Amino acid sequence: MTSLGSDTFSDLCAKELELCGLKETEIVAVLTQGDERLEYADAFLGAAERLGATAFHVRLPRQSPNLGGDVGSWQVGTTPLAANRPAVEALKAADLVIDTMFLLFSKEQLEIQEAGARMLLCMEPIEHLVQLFPNTNLRERVEFGGDLLGKASELRFTNKLGTDVRYRLGSYPVITEYGYTDEPGRWDHWPSGFLFTGGADDGVDGKIVIAPGDIIYPFKTYVQTPIHLTIESGRIVDIHGDFDANLLADYMASFDDEKAYGIAHIGWGLNERARWSYLATDRRGLGMHGRSFYGNVLFSTGPNQELGGTNDTQCHVDIPMRGCSLYLDNEPIVVDGEVVVEEMKAAHLVKSA
Ligand SMILES: [Fe+2]
Repeated sequence: MTSLGSDTFSDLCAKELELCGLKETEIVAVLTQGDERLEYADAFLGAAERLGATAFHVRLPRQSPNLGGDVGSWQVGTTPLAANRPAVEALKAADLVIDTMFLLFSKEQLEIQEAGARMLLCMEPIEHLVQLFPNTNLRERVEFGGDLLGKASELRFTNKLGTDVRYRLGSYPVITEYGYTDEPGRWDHWPSGFLFTGGADDGVDGKIVIAPGDIIYPFKTYVQTPIHLTIESGRIVDIHGDFDANLLADYMASFDDEKAYGIAHIGWGLNERARWSYLATDRRGLGMHGRSFYGNVLFSTGPNQELGGTNDTQCHVDIPMRGCSLYLDNEPIVVDGEVVVEEMKAAHLVKSA
């Protein structure tokens, strides 16, 4: 298990706040719920004070176990913050909001961002925060990918089991996640290391075959048997296969929501320190090793309001897939799970000139 060495967690949070460009004139708010992650609040508040900023803590009395993805189904978009206007207003007054409860996909998050606050989600186990601590090189490579994705009009990805699906792009912005944020109104997640966008609402078509070894979140499991999905005009119209397909189909049906069959974000992972195998021995947290690992194609279903879309289903499934090939306007970006664009390659894989 990775340790902090001689640093304390608050020291690590101070380094994170420095990456976030925190200034002495700025205000940091830390959001927690119930008795969860109070040590995160203490660490960030202490770090912010040491850096000379003004800091405060918003602690919601009620806890929603569904947001952490550990208990019950992982229901996104509806949080206890929605019923607490004074707390929303307090958070909007900050320059930087540290969210330890998962506001992503909620209207309140968008409102806070629109007020100009930059937002950082931080809820993974401390060891994961250490292992995947961000740096400027990761940011540069993720932003390079974001520029490529933003210029493309079509994304296609395939794998050896028969996946061949096309996304018509241009309807939604590109979102980069590299683990810190220093721009007003911008959201990020520590830890991460990937980028994505969404296809047009009716512009995703093809077949996806989720392969053994691919990961399904929020199940936090490795697929054992192929899952065949048919997607037409941005909707999953068929799910078939054996055990894993039945499990996924039943999970989606449990929401009793047609919007659960929509297609959410699509992109690829660039964090060479994130490990595909990590989940085999550590199932804590949301699972950012699995979502971020280098060369994965991160396919997802359900809501797209984080991109500005209208699908607000609470059923969100993230599926990091291995060994895929991904093309932007027919140009290869990832081939058989390997990033092939020099500017996005991990430093140890870049050929010296
Ligand atoms: Fe997702």
